[in-house]
Amino acid sequence: MEKIPATLIPGDGIGPEIVNATLKVLEALGASFEWEQQLAGVAAEDACGDPLPQATLDSIRRTKLALKGPLTTPVGSGFRSINVRLREEFELFANVRPARSFLLGGRFENVDLVLIRENLEGLYVGVEHYIPIADDPKAVAEASGIITRYGCTRFAEFAFNWAIKNKRKKVTIVHKANILKKLTGLFLETATELGKKYEGQIEVEERIVDNCAMQLVLNPNQFDVLITTNMFGDILSDEIAGLVGGLGLAPSANIGKDASIFEAVHGSAPDIAGKKIANPTALMLAAALMLDHVEEADKATRLRESLDAQLRSGEGLTVDLGGKASTMEFADNIIARL
Ligand code: NAI
Ligand code: MG
Repeated sequence: MEKIPATLIPGDGIGPEIVNATLKVLEALGASFEWEQQLAGVAAEDACGDPLPQATLDSIRRTKLALKGPLTTPVGSGFRSINVRLREEFELFANVRPARSFLLGGRFENVDLVLIRENLEGLYVGVEHYIPIADDPKAVAEASGIITRYGCTRFAEFAFNWAIKNKRKKVTIVHKANILKKLTGLFLETATELGKKYEGQIEVEERIVDNCAMQLVLNPNQFDVLITTNMFGDILSDEIAGLVGGLGLAPSANIGKDASIFEAVHGSAPDIAGKKIANPTALMLAAALMLDHVEEADKATRLRESLDAQLRSGEGLTVDLGGKASTMEFADNIIARL
């Protein structure tokens, strides 16, 4: 079988622990990845004085594919978020965040939603400044949001195609074009126009973001795939993760022009790092998204079904889910079910 070169970044904190557990499961599945291990984050800064070494960038540029453990970002001072730098470097324009209710007894049963967030534009471009007045240097703060037709088109095209390929039924365009008539109006207009191209293949509707946030809490199952701009997507994707039991089970795919990077949504969890108790589910689900991406959907399905069965059994779970299993014991349980 032909091998698929892919970059592997173990990351910081619990990163190496959940990455090792995930690799063991991928190996048992017979996934065809050939890993190039590279450093990033605090691990890289400690090893070579650079939190994002050139060798890591070169590797991702070559493989166009990476599985990444969480990276610690120093607060207040220190280096800039490596996650943001990777997003910019490889033009990772779409962030795909599926959320499914795995655990029984949660607030909602059978939630199955996907939020696809525009990842580069909008109010998060970081164009902001203070305007001093008299002796107050911060009398006024001003930020600009930037949305381009090019960016919206590229993003929405990807999102509609993803939805159709993954056999989803409906796409909801989420916006605030009643107030931000131009900024999010352009997003709504471009996505709606493009949606017409997919008529007959998938249902398209639109929703204003605040109403959408409420509707998600009242009845999440009325939605299927939600597509939205950067900041709304940031907020709604965490809300959606909350509907299915929190960030610990949430994977994410960062899809870009020059590469795609797969990771867990949670961070490096310094409070439990090194204790071998971290839950590897989110990273394993990210690996499943990566398998889908390289057209090994059958393996992705086997992995998801094993995780599903394990979590629903309520047995052999990690400490965060009320169990006693270590990270590796959890991985072995998944392997036994594959
Ligand atoms: P966090 O997600 O690392 O931790 C929040 C809480 O959830 C902690 O109590 C932690 O123990 C728990 N937790 C997280 N993942 C878990 C897992 N797999 N199993 C069991 N428990 C888990 O968020 P926090 O503490 O805000 O951030 C820590 C560091 O991670 C920061 O430096 C932050 O910048 C970075 N971070 C990196 C991300 C990335 O690389 N994509 C994403 C989010 C945060
Ligand atoms: Mg966020």
